[in-house]
Amino acid sequence: MAPEAILLVGGKGTRLRPLTVHTPKPMVPAAGVPFLTHQLARARAAGVERVVLATSYLAEVFEPYFGDGSSMGLRLEYVTEREPLGTGGAIRNAASHLSSGPDAPVLIFNGDILTGLDIPALISTHETSGADVSLHLTRVDDPRAYGLVPTDPSGRVTAFLEKPQTPAEIVTDQINAGAYVFRRSVIDTIPVGRPVSVERETFPELLSSGVHLQGMVDSTYWLDLGTPQAFVRGSADLVLGRAPSPAVPGRRGDRLILPSASVAADAKLTGGTVVGAGAVIGAGARVVGSTVLDGAVVEEGAVVTDSLVGAGARVGARTVLSGAVIGDGAAVGPDNELRAGARIWCDAVLPAGCVRFSSDQ
Ligand code: GDD
Ligand code: MG
Repeated sequence: MAPEAILLVGGKGTRLRPLTVHTPKPMVPAAGVPFLTHQLARARAAGVERVVLATSYLAEVFEPYFGDGSSMGLRLEYVTEREPLGTGGAIRNAASHLSSGPDAPVLIFNGDILTGLDIPALISTHETSGADVSLHLTRVDDPRAYGLVPTDPSGRVTAFLEKPQTPAEIVTDQINAGAYVFRRSVIDTIPVGRPVSVERETFPELLSSGVHLQGMVDSTYWLDLGTPQAFVRGSADLVLGRAPSPAVPGRRGDRLILPSASVAADAKLTGGTVVGAGAVIGAGARVVGSTVLDGAVVEEGAVVTDSLVGAGARVGARTVLSGAVIGDGAAVGPDNELRAGARIWCDAVLPAGCVRFSSDQ
């Protein structure tokens, strides 16, 4: 039987604000389609036929778009938590909708990860090692925002340290990459009816009771899209073909321009830039490695680099954006300069020439 999967797309969902004021992050388009589409398409390509979406907020936005999944060759089910149950609670709750037997491998994915993970390889690692749970691990320079997962020479997990607080806790650069294979019967040991963190509670408890957790480390493409900057990077990498996904519309290359967008003949779009449906790019504008969502306008001579321009937002003439996030419906007037980390809230209005980082000419 094809393995079943659970996709975690709930929680507080606050980290992409302001862009999630109108849209929960799994539905924000990355390379032209809701981000979740890439994960679903990759799971399908790996032989998964049935996916349970475990959600806790605005669940009603998923179903009208993905329906029963049949357009992607999947059978999709939606399970909504009344209150967020945490990662472990969500897995347990969603598992009641699985039909797998007690020894079957069940795939679990964090819903905010863009990765080239070889899913069949993770399943076969699980099967050959005889583990109860197998985890995809990746290496990062700064592991503090993640779950640290040291392993012994055979790959067996020796500890799980979520978001280490002190330098002494940073014992490895291997982190939990947010994709697991669980033996079905192990999911059934997670407590029901209360929030449970799989990272802070389930994994440490399983380890202390001697359960076999196996790590599979690899160096494939991997990115947590939990911040707008990461989201822009991921979208550009999908367009450029660095991040593999069968769901990117059109050919890989320097840019993706959705039908009905309008781009001036002398505008330059590079670095995996995406221009959404109905968006307008004015004369002489340069847009590099950025995402311009549906209906947004980038006026003439603007220079937009590594930035996210929300749906229906406007970037004024000659304005320079670098590493900035412009919320849905916001308007940045002409001749502004916004640099790394700047976030303009949804629907906010910034008058002409009022923010600069450089001195007056
Ligand atoms: N249904 C549901 N209910 N889903 C949830 C809940 C919940 O209560 N809480 C979180 N999730 C989902 C999120 O939507 C996300 O897809 C995933 O679970 C992980 O939650 P995040 O809030 O994004 O966690 P994180 O990024 O800080 O850390 C996690 O991911 C890291 C890798 O990116 C942990 O799993 C770390 O150990 C890991 O290294
Ligand atoms: Mg995350």
